[in-house]
Amino acid sequence: MASALPPNPVGVRVRVPAKINLALRVGAPRADGFHPLATVYQAVSLYDEVHAEWAEPDEFEVAVSGEGADLVPTDERNLAIRAARLLARRHGPYDSLGVSLSIKKAIPVAGGLAGGSSNGAAALLACAVLWDIDIDHDGLRTLAAELGSDVPFALLGGTALGSGRGEQVVPVLARGNYHWVLAFGHHGLSTPAVYRRFDERSSRVPPPEVPPTLMNALRSGDPAAVGAALINDLQPAALELQPRLRQVLDAGLELGALGALVSGSGPTCAFLTSSETAAVDLSVALSAEGLCRSIRRATGPVSGARVIG
Ligand code: C5P
Repeated sequence: MASALPPNPVGVRVRVPAKINLALRVGAPRADGFHPLATVYQAVSLYDEVHAEWAEPDEFEVAVSGEGADLVPTDERNLAIRAARLLARRHGPYDSLGVSLSIKKAIPVAGGLAGGSSNGAAALLACAVLWDIDIDHDGLRTLAAELGSDVPFALLGGTALGSGRGEQVVPVLARGNYHWVLAFGHHGLSTPAVYRRFDERSSRVPPPEVPPTLMNALRSGDPAAVGAALINDLQPAALELQPRLRQVLDAGLELGALGALVSGSGPTCAFLTSSETAAVDLSVALSAEGLCRSIRRATGPVSGARVIG
């Protein structure tokens, strides 16, 4: 419970990673409209930071800077604000809590890398520490699942299997460090729109299942085998909505990537390479093609949301 005096008067800073879906298998929509998923998430070293400071009681505000900041709503739609309010409502003396959040973004907005979800996860953790709330990991994960399908994974990090609508996560045995090249698109993609297109173009969708070849490849830590097993059922829908992405994927594969796919609902394209050197070479060569807005390298797996100050 929160005490009368702010226990963390200078504020709390949390760093939170982006995610890639190494496999994203999608089933037919459930009665609630969400799609059953069988997915393998990996957290990668591209981070947003969320800083939380005390504000007047019942004052919840957010400021956003960095990559795509002008595209992020700062009102009640903002997932970090919703996270803070949810935590205060369920676990705090709501009337005496308030927070001023600032988000420094490096994860592109509407990029298929769980940028918004990661901000929700980071805000939950930052506010729990700021307000000195007595809540354990399971409690945070329950709130995270209410906020969005990808939010629990952003708390967990590493490499994990996701089921349900993506919110049920368990760590998987994975060896090795993976060197990724990420190609950011000029325009974002709306996740609901990509799922809608998936529904329009698919009939008789079987229950989703993660490919055993991917799980074996992760167990053995063989990047070439992981690269060959990458799969995303949303990719055809994302490519229909942004046909230029096909060129980006093909270019990366021609330039030597071990595997390539659209991350989540896109439009970010993720390329797996064999080493740090190979990732540097690929990112330089892909930049020269001029097909994307920008290119970043990242490694995975990395840990989930962490307090860094
Ligand atoms: O859970 P989250 O709020 O991140 O989901 C955003 C949107 O993506 C949902 O409103 C829904 O349209 C779609 N979605 C889905 N099935 C999932 C996850 C997301 O249809 N498993």
